[in-house]
Amino acid sequence: MDTKELNTLIKTRRSIRVFQDKPVPESLLMQAIETAAWAPNGGNAQNWRFFIILDKKIINSIEDVIRTGLKTIQSWPEMANAGPAGGRPRNPQPGSPLTTAPALIIVCAVRSANPMVNAMTKRAETDPMAKEMIDGLRVISGGVQSTSAAVAYLMLVLHQMGLGTLWMTGPLHAKADIEKLLKIPDDMDIVTLVPVGYPAESPTRDRKPVSEVCQVIK
Ligand SMILES: Cc1cc2nc3c(=O)[nH]c(=O)nc-3n(C[C@H](O)[C@H](O)[C@H](O)COP(=O)(O)O)c2cc1C
Repeated sequence: MDTKELNTLIKTRRSIRVFQDKPVPESLLMQAIETAAWAPNGGNAQNWRFFIILDKKIINSIEDVIRTGLKTIQSWPEMANAGPAGGRPRNPQPGSPLTTAPALIIVCAVRSANPMVNAMTKRAETDPMAKEMIDGLRVISGGVQSTSAAVAYLMLVLHQMGLGTLWMTGPLHAKADIEKLLKIPDDMDIVTLVPVGYPAESPTRDRKPVSEVCQVIK
């Protein structure tokens, strides 16, 4: 693959929110995850974990807990003026992207057992400097960054295979409920939900010019 082909692959991937009613072979998903796991990651700890869900009943149950959580949030008086979508950008299509998705990959990050982080966390209870340090580390969480690198790779590989994907953090208001439903081990956190399927839409998107987002410091 030359640079031009790589550019085309990257630029033709779009977030897909409506999928064809066509199953996704498990072998393709496994192959894509195997490739995605070559992403750069902190200390080569490979702290990502992938849960592939092909059972539509389980996907529907996940959608239910997401919807229930959303209804709870929307019932709060603080949300009275937030608008019909709860103040969030509306999906261009009605319904949730999970409704039509034949497959769902849940990507988790195993929490770090780094002794320095553990010490900082404990000390932060009483030491403001340690608190500032750990707050900073949480924002730039290496574990989440590593997992995110794998998600980006995964989406690209699946796109190359003709599959559509969506990176979803919106449903994470129901993170605890989804983790409970799927019996996700206690030492990991869901980072994103990635519905996968053959695309039933061809959305377009643009990007800011590079001059707007990039500065050369000389
Ligand atoms: C961290 C992250 C979270 C996202 N969460 C959602 C989501 O919850 N729901 C959704 O419809 N799209 C979600 N997206 C998709 C973005 O809306 C999409 O990537 C962006 O609009 C650019 O469109 P493109 O992916 O087609 O280039 C998310 C993307 C990222 C990277």
